[in-house]
Amino acid sequence: RKRVVSGVQPTGSVHLGNYLGAIKNWILLQDTYDTLFFIVDLHAITLPYDTPELWKATRSTAAIYLACGVDPLKASIFVQSHVRAHVELMWLLSSATPLGWLNRMIQFKEKSRKAGDENVGVALLTYPVLMASDILLYQTDLVPVGEDQKQHLELTRELAERINYLYGGRKWKKLGGRGGSLFKVPEALIPPTGARVMSLTDGLSKMSKSAPSDQSRINLLDTKDVIANKIKRCKTDSYPGLEFDNPERPECNNLLSIYQIITGKTKEEVEHECRDMNWGTFKATLADTLIDHLLPIQARYSEITSDPAYLDQILSEGARKAADIAETTLNNVYQAMGFLRR
Ligand code: AMP
Ligand code: TRP
Repeated sequence: RKRVVSGVQPTGSVHLGNYLGAIKNWILLQDTYDTLFFIVDLHAITLPYDTPELWKATRSTAAIYLACGVDPLKASIFVQSHVRAHVELMWLLSSATPLGWLNRMIQFKEKSRKAGDENVGVALLTYPVLMASDILLYQTDLVPVGEDQKQHLELTRELAERINYLYGGRKWKKLGGRGGSLFKVPEALIPPTGARVMSLTDGLSKMSKSAPSDQSRINLLDTKDVIANKIKRCKTDSYPGLEFDNPERPECNNLLSIYQIITGKTKEEVEHECRDMNWGTFKATLADTLIDHLLPIQARYSEITSDPAYLDQILSEGARKAADIAETTLNNVYQAMGFLRR
């Protein structure tokens, strides 16, 4: 079976962008593919953070995966730092990663500009190498992520090819290995709609955990009233009717797209239904749709968090299964890179 791997950082609270861009699609993949979903806690320390918040958010993100429908009987769910191979492979990969590749990363440039020099550690720069390690360790075929991760996936692919070329094939065979490639070259799986959910207060910037105003995003755990209020107050425009794809109306396109994915309707159906609506009517419909969709997720979330032992058990089982696969890849890479094995 083909393998699918993805993760979310335990920083801030999981929002509609994370859900529509990533998590919702994981659920569709777990029946057909061999899936591993992790909480990337090691990535979460690349910007200044609060220590007790880290472990709380790690548990809560895991509980959200389950509440959204990730099924521990089908997928392995685990915490990145519980499988040591991630950090180990990262070091090996970093020796073959040209500094220029990392300096080019848009996310590094944006995050370091926002954080200011004092707050930028080396790990923010090497972040994509850790991400490549997360993916390559599992000989992954597909990585379901939002649009903002496209460049990181491109780097992962280039790095896999580079290592295969530098250390794989006949060179590896001479060292007693199997020969052939060390890593499978993975592909990004970016959804046609929802890959870039925009802020509720500005249709030109993406919905993000780090935006200062909570009004700009719908968190999966927002109460009914908060959701209704955020939608009521979100930015709109004064054009008549509603439409997709008008560059002058980014907010309109964003809200219609959200509505489209949550209802599972086609774009044409939504166009037809909403063409003549005014903002008041549409906002009320959208808020109701979101609330109906999120309330069952929230109910499952409370159930899951009321039993910490259940979650612990899933995470430990997930880490055990992941570590088995990861160790094989890691050992091969050590061997191919010429390390003396004990
Ligand atoms: P992060 O919150 O950075 O850990 O992102 C977790 C996942 O959510 C990744 O696959 C991102 O690409 C995706 N994601 C984050 N923000 C958005 C957004 N506004 N729209 C769509 N996907 C997003
Ligand atoms: N960098 C990703 C993000 O911020 C999270 C991530 C880390 C990830 N490792 C990964 C996603 C491996 C997919 C596969 O969204």
